[in-house]
Amino acid sequence: MTIILGLESSCDETAAALVTADRRILAHKLATQEAEHRPYGGVVPEIAARAHVEMLTPLIKAVFDEAGLALADVDAIAATAGPGLIGGVMVGLVTGKALSLASGKPLVAVNHLEGHALSPRLVDPSLEFPYLLLLVSGGHCQLLRVEGVGRYRRLATTIDDAAGEAFDKTAKLLGLGFPGGPAVERAAALGDAMAVPLPRPLLGANDPHFSFAGLKSAVLRAHQSGQWQVEDIAASFQQAVIDCLIDRTGKAIASSAGLTALVVAGGVAANQSVRTALEALAIDHGLPFVVPPLWLCTDNAAMIGWAGAERFAEGLTDGLDFVARPRWPLDPGAEKARGAGVKA
Ligand code: KG4
Ligand code: ZN
Repeated sequence: MTIILGLESSCDETAAALVTADRRILAHKLATQEAEHRPYGGVVPEIAARAHVEMLTPLIKAVFDEAGLALADVDAIAATAGPGLIGGVMVGLVTGKALSLASGKPLVAVNHLEGHALSPRLVDPSLEFPYLLLLVSGGHCQLLRVEGVGRYRRLATTIDDAAGEAFDKTAKLLGLGFPGGPAVERAAALGDAMAVPLPRPLLGANDPHFSFAGLKSAVLRAHQSGQWQVEDIAASFQQAVIDCLIDRTGKAIASSAGLTALVVAGGVAANQSVRTALEALAIDHGLPFVVPPLWLCTDNAAMIGWAGAERFAEGLTDGLDFVARPRWPLDPGAEKARGAGVKA
């Protein structure tokens, strides 16, 4: 049975995993750097890269120990090669190259977004192409039509902030702490989602994309006005994000023929209200709703190992000269979104 070692280091999670082509996760380990970044209210790239250097090797050793395997037992080494914070990406990719060189096993350079995009297939063998993926994380807010391994059509992206980024910035504005998503969700549970009038950027517009920067500014104004409770602002903000996600996703479903399912992945998928709303949308459109377990929705190495397994099965391996990519769109042919900033 094909065994793949997966490595992830593109943001603030260092992770290693051993997965098989028949969907068994033999071991997976993850070290989060939340505590290191908390004092700064966001991920500091230099601190992240150093932490990856310190953590990755012990985690690799730990997954081999847990699975009772050695490097010689794996068939390929899959490492995230981008997009992400370049210092961290280089740590994981160089480690993958070194292991590949030492063992003579091929390297698979994995696009982190492809890891998210294919992750539901690791846990759901019945999930067939093409499906619609809503990828909502700290760095991304995209709707992708997943047509096959390496075949993605980007139907929408954000023209400014990612959804998770909006949660993180809102948490910071409201003094709710870091990481922001879970903090906003907890506060929102105590508030009234109808209390504060907030904009729904691009709602109902023909433009398929997302925009959250205006919402964030409106949150700041509402907070500064002193008129509202923090919990009510959090709840109203969360509802505005949900309304935007639902509107744009509904539009993408309507415009994309032959979909087998609606899939959601990325850290924001951890939000229960977001999941509930998307599930209702899927049901409305007669589509199965697939959401990987929470730990697989956020950054991890099992999804990188799995994407590696899917690519390896198709004979897609990479040379040791593969260069780490800070930006790496899954659909390079997609038109640049109007007003798009730095998001991959
Ligand atoms: O996928 P992920 O772990 O990392 C990447 O960005 O690739 O996603 C992290 C993002 C953060 O912005 C975090 O605030 C958000 O997901 N997040 C949430 C929740 N849990 C995590 N957003 C809303 N509600 C949550 N419960
Ligand atoms: Zn991610």
